[in-house]
Amino acid sequence: MPHTPGSGPVGENTRALSLPEAPVPAERPLRMPVYRATTYAFDTSQEFADVMSGSQDGYSYARIDSPTADAFASAVAALEGAGLDETVHGQPFSSGMGALSTVLMALTEAGAHVVAARSIYGNTYSLLDGLLRRFGVSTDFVDVTDPDAVRAAVRPETRVVFTETLSNPTMTVSDLPALAQIAHEAGARLVVDSTFASPAICRPMEFGADVVVHSATKYIGGHSDTTGGVAVAGRDLIDRVRATRVDLGPCLAPDEAYLLHRGLETLPLRVARQSESAAALAAALEDHPAVERVDHPSLSSHPQHALAGKLFDQGRCGGIVTVHPKGGRDAGMAFADRLRLSTIAPSLGGTHTLAGHVPTTTHRTMNEAELGAAGISPGAVRFSVGLEDPQDLVDDALRALDNG
Ligand SMILES: Cc1ncc(COP(=O)(O)O)c(C=O)c1O
Repeated sequence: MPHTPGSGPVGENTRALSLPEAPVPAERPLRMPVYRATTYAFDTSQEFADVMSGSQDGYSYARIDSPTADAFASAVAALEGAGLDETVHGQPFSSGMGALSTVLMALTEAGAHVVAARSIYGNTYSLLDGLLRRFGVSTDFVDVTDPDAVRAAVRPETRVVFTETLSNPTMTVSDLPALAQIAHEAGARLVVDSTFASPAICRPMEFGADVVVHSATKYIGGHSDTTGGVAVAGRDLIDRVRATRVDLGPCLAPDEAYLLHRGLETLPLRVARQSESAAALAAALEDHPAVERVDHPSLSSHPQHALAGKLFDQGRCGGIVTVHPKGGRDAGMAFADRLRLSTIAPSLGGTHTLAGHVPTTTHRTMNEAELGAAGISPGAVRFSVGLEDPQDLVDDALRALDNG
């Protein structure tokens, strides 16, 4: 409520609630303001009614829309849509899972069918295989590197083909143009989780994706201090995603939105450096006698090395490297424990290099046969390469292998 001088004496509480408002500066602030308000005021009841009904654009309540979160989502949309003729739009979320669950619910209904990549993030798998199945949405999980398997799995009720640009932990590259074609021929949408790539490596909508989703917690935020998510799509689909988000409620908090927006400014610098360092680490470890295999698309031994060259910008292949040491589970865990520069921790995409034994952590629910089928050896250790000097990371990893 604005301060109204001269309106007569009022009680101390009214006075406390009638303080002067912060000025709106005429100059442009160099940083994006953080709007913490949950609630917005109107001059008239008609304006209030028009904004609430959607006949007039505006802000009313932060779970519905909020300026700082919107600015973040629009910024991601600008990056994802940089090479497109049409304008694409973003929706902000409180987490990557908030974005994924909302998008998948927005595009399906009871009786609908999804074709999803077999090796996807564990919670996305359980969302599709558990929660959504309970609500009548069935999913077939297939090897997305085999287009015939994807084509064979789609059916008239298929609404979504779902994949990740780069999958965890083997860094499998999805053939996005082929998947888009299969989805569209079946009347379905291609939804891509591009968390491991980020728009600094690949923009899936340029290759036919209909919706791109990120856990912004990872590369977009980039500093392991913020949880958030974002979805980008054309106008019709993003309106459906927004309406579903408003009902489900995973709205992005303004302070988180500010940090994620700030992260975007250094995203290409960070991801370029992380990709280069990851490639150097992968190349240095691949031929070590204690190593069975290294997964990184920069290596010519990687099954999708050539595809990465077609889809990814400037040879960048991401900051995740998975090393398969010889000697099984104990050797892998001991290798991770001997690393000094890398911290044993979950998550990825931050400034510090993190390492983790895959079968006992991110993929602990898979049995030996499933791990084997997914190309994950019992000793697999995943690195999320940070911004340290690459030679230091290489030296540290070689020392940890040599001393095994
Ligand atoms: C590929 C991928 N997608 C989605 C998520 C979920 O993101 P969040 O933890 O922000 O909900 C993760 C988290 O690790 C992820 O790795």
